[in-house]
Amino acid sequence: MISLILAAGKGTRMKSEKPKVLHEVNGMPMLKRVVKVLENSGIEKNLFILGHKKEVVLEAMGDVMYVEQKEQLGTGHAVLIAKEKLGNLKEDVLITCGDTPLLKSETFNKMKKIFEEKNLDCIVLSCKVKNPFGYGRIIKENGNIVDIVEEKEATDEQRKIDEINTGVYIFKNEKLLEAVEKINNNNSKGEYYLTDVIKILSGEGQKVESFQIEDEDEVLGVNSKVQLAQANRILRERKNVELMDNGVILLDPATTYIEENVEIGEDTVIYPNVTIQGNTKIGKNCEILGNTRIENSVIGDNVRIEASVVEQSTLEDGVTVGPFAHLRPKANLKLNAHVGNFVEIKNATLEEGVKAGHLTYIGDAQVGERTNIGAGTITCNYDGKNKHKTKIGKDSFIGSNSIIVAPVEIGEKSFTAAGSVITENIPDETLAFGRAKQINKEGWNK
Ligand code: UD1
Ligand code: CA
Repeated sequence: MISLILAAGKGTRMKSEKPKVLHEVNGMPMLKRVVKVLENSGIEKNLFILGHKKEVVLEAMGDVMYVEQKEQLGTGHAVLIAKEKLGNLKEDVLITCGDTPLLKSETFNKMKKIFEEKNLDCIVLSCKVKNPFGYGRIIKENGNIVDIVEEKEATDEQRKIDEINTGVYIFKNEKLLEAVEKINNNNSKGEYYLTDVIKILSGEGQKVESFQIEDEDEVLGVNSKVQLAQANRILRERKNVELMDNGVILLDPATTYIEENVEIGEDTVIYPNVTIQGNTKIGKNCEILGNTRIENSVIGDNVRIEASVVEQSTLEDGVTVGPFAHLRPKANLKLNAHVGNFVEIKNATLEEGVKAGHLTYIGDAQVGERTNIGAGTITCNYDGKNKHKTKIGKDSFIGSNSIIVAPVEIGEKSFTAAGSVITENIPDETLAFGRAKQINKEGWNK
């Protein structure tokens, strides 16, 4: 089976520069999500109908098979245009839209099963909804689908029908292509409605059935920013439930924002107002406290992070971070390292047991085991043109307010005096002063 994904429309109601199908739902463009769900149900060959801002869509989607629909004359027209490619293929065709990102792979699987077992020519995915406004209505005779009528074409009586067309269908390839030739645009929008093929096929006595799903949330089409927010909420809820089913503790799911690809271990506690994004992996028994954002990072077990930002970083078991720390890309915190209040780390490794508790910047650096970084320490890694490295050995003690001008190396078991500006290397087991000697002028007040 192949899929035909309709994504040429302008998405006028979104009021956006961005093509509608590239708007993100829980961290993933809608169109990518649709492809992922299809893939999970075993459909890997996709044909896209692209039109509006097709270059932008292609840039996001990469090398995909597509047909260009220059003028968007309707969903039926879109399929007609796909004929040049579909005509050469024998596979059954599952049609879906780029703007219905909540459908589940289980639903596609069930539909495929019925289609194949009953050897149907067409199956339509339908759903009963509380508010059917705007959707095509399923028209049945003797319990079987015979037509789909669009909102604008429907009679008052038909508008009362609450079973709607989700916009997902499976067709036998040649049946679809024959029927789509027969669609016209004699309707109030002057569009070629794909939905008209149902009446055509059923009128010819072909085997057409509908399959009704229960969960109204699945069929939500995203046509506006309000619906985008609804889709985001539903996907977040689904992700939260999946995590809790796997043993994660969410103190307040309603204010927990965890994206699709995130993995979290058992008994880790997520406090309110936490955002976890990208391909982040978090181990067991961690505590992620309020106002933390973690992105594309790998975090071990028993880690505690409070009110901090962690980006593209690696934190080993037992690490503690925050409150108010910023771990920028390539911060690498080894076993039990501690980074505290108002500390920024970038492209730096803090070996096992290193502590940087307060008001510090460490960039482009390597800090050896158990070394203590005093409050206010700054690595001056940038000379205005180039970045330079700082190396600090193990078991050293960097005095408060040390300014370490890179490139520079500090040995093992060494000290810098508080307030020092360090511009030269320090050997092992050495105390370095790099500050003016204090002078007391007695009686000066007089
Ligand atoms: C469509 C269905 C409606 C169904 C609803 C489900 C038709 C005529 N109506 O209505 O029965 O209840 O979806 O969400 O099919 N597109 C193209 N080319 C075009 C027109 C549209 O590629 O010329 C694409 C759009 O980008 C979109 C999809 O087709 O991804 C659906 O189009 P849209 O205009 O949103 O249709 P609806 O009015 O929602
Ligand atoms: Ca739509």
